[in-house]
Amino acid sequence: MRLRYKPWARELIANHRDLALNEDDLDSLPSFEYLELGCGCGEFLIKKAQANPNKNYLGVEINYIAFAIAVKKLVSEEVIPHNIHFINADANKLFAKIKPGSLQAVYLNFNDPWPKKKHHKRRLTYPSRLQLYFDLLKVGGKVIYKSDNDVYFNDSCRYFKEFNKFHLIINENYVKLDEGDVMSEYEQKFRKLNQPIHQIIGIKEQDN
Ligand SMILES: C[S@@+](CC[C@H](N)C(=O)[O-])C[C@H]1O[C@@H](n2cnc3c(N)ncnc32)[C@H](O)[C@@H]1O
Repeated sequence: MRLRYKPWARELIANHRDLALNEDDLDSLPSFEYLELGCGCGEFLIKKAQANPNKNYLGVEINYIAFAIAVKKLVSEEVIPHNIHFINADANKLFAKIKPGSLQAVYLNFNDPWPKKKHHKRRLTYPSRLQLYFDLLKVGGKVIYKSDNDVYFNDSCRYFKEFNKFHLIINENYVKLDEGDVMSEYEQKFRKLNQPIHQIIGIKEQDN
């Protein structure tokens, strides 16, 4: 995602350090059970947090500008939800800071497909990542993946099947939103272009 420099970003973040976290905060994270990796400009998670005031959400985003836009959206809400934090960090640095068995959901919305074979290990559905999510989730917790990219989706189906620990629900053409689901910025964009959306839900049904 190419985003233009935002001259207001530094001051906005400095003024909202209670909900706009950075890598210095990795050792003192607020409690959360719902995690979005690569949350972009934050719309998905803000809508989820507004709809579920008793649940706690964390969105991690490596791009400072996208993170700043997410924080700006959040603090521009008429009623700012207090059950959500954004952290400007590399998701890979976050995993070790999360208590195993503590998450209800890991959201993977339209993450980078990393098309070159030599980069496939960076995909957020790569089997080594699935093991991480499995360990971090509670029993009954879910990984919920959505993508517009056919190749990435097909490869991800294979990764999930080979991993073989999640109960899988696969929707090749995810048309009507599941109850409680909301759309991220990218999902809205792709739906407007009539591009099919693919969804994989992996449910952790037992401890190993
Ligand atoms: C294609 S965008 C999708 C944004 C949003 N999830 C949506 O659906 O609208 C992918 C996002 O993941 C972020 N990202 C990529 N690698 C990341 C990492 N290692 N840690 C955190 N964020 C990452 C990118 O900066 C980008 O904002």
